[in-house]
Amino acid sequence: MDSVFGNVVQAPEDPILGVTVAYNKDPSPIKLNLGVGAYRTEHTIYIPQPTWGNHPKVFMMAGLSVKSYRYYDPATRGLDFQGLLEDLGAAPSGAIVLLHACAHNPTGVDPTVEQWKQIRQLLRSKGHLPFFDSAYQGFASGSLDADAQSVRMFVADGGECLTAQSFAKNMGLYGERVGALSIVCKTADVATKVESQLKLVIRPMYSSPPIHGASIVATILKDSDMYNEWKVELKAMADRIISMRHQLFDALSAKGTPGDWSHIIKQIGMFTFTGLNGDQVAFMTKEYHIYMTSDGRISMAGLNSKKVPHLADAIHAAVTRTS
Ligand SMILES: Cc1ncc(COP(=O)(O)O)c(C=O)c1O
Repeated sequence: MDSVFGNVVQAPEDPILGVTVAYNKDPSPIKLNLGVGAYRTEHTIYIPQPTWGNHPKVFMMAGLSVKSYRYYDPATRGLDFQGLLEDLGAAPSGAIVLLHACAHNPTGVDPTVEQWKQIRQLLRSKGHLPFFDSAYQGFASGSLDADAQSVRMFVADGGECLTAQSFAKNMGLYGERVGALSIVCKTADVATKVESQLKLVIRPMYSSPPIHGASIVATILKDSDMYNEWKVELKAMADRIISMRHQLFDALSAKGTPGDWSHIIKQIGMFTFTGLNGDQVAFMTKEYHIYMTSDGRISMAGLNSKKVPHLADAIHAAVTRTS
């Protein structure tokens, strides 16, 4: 054995996590997980269907039982607003509801401001707890304020909410792990107690946070020149993505590619949920060397004007040859 680590034996699976993994795989409607020693009621967390692939894992590892609510309608390639309202309306009061603040990943489909208002009313009337994931602020519309509207609407009504915010994308600090969890509480007294609980969680997890990335963000946010420069750069990035959407849509229209491709320009943010199926994606990779996830999601940020004709050719061929 050449490796110094050749004699290292396979560690046993975490016995508690193993139980939860088996539980999650079991399709039985009567299943019951008594393995995890975490206090829970029948309320749990509701995540959109579909959502970022890490969400179910993160919340499962946190000991929550994860349920989903209808979000994306493949028929319209838009929001299943009725399904969303029905599912969140039927969820037991006090449920945690995960919401993408803007630029929903992977669908690129966001509620309109009017729809956000209705979602807010429903969540508040049911006593649900909104948990925002804000990973793309500035990328959706090019404006930090416009992309924060959903969160601010919930903060403004005086109710409580949580927001997990990432600077990985909008400041290009992926490797630095910079973000913030903000918990809005009704009173200062409650906030002090909640903070004390967070400290208990933090201490054995990472103890003290890395400082470098956070210093970069703080420096930019505190300096008005740098802050304005950042906003201009963000807008340029968002505009470039929007322009890619129009170029791709125009190229498909010019080719007469069968189907309605207007969702490419209606969807928002970094991703387009093209509606291409797994076979079509595999065809495009094999014949055109275009790589994307098998659910048909393409990152508009990875596209440029020169490559648009090649992508349009590939989509056209995939749709006309394999459908
Ligand atoms: C919705 C969403 N939340 C969170 C993240 C990750 O953020 P971070 O890299 O700061 O953990 C991503 C993507 O990587 C994402 O798409």
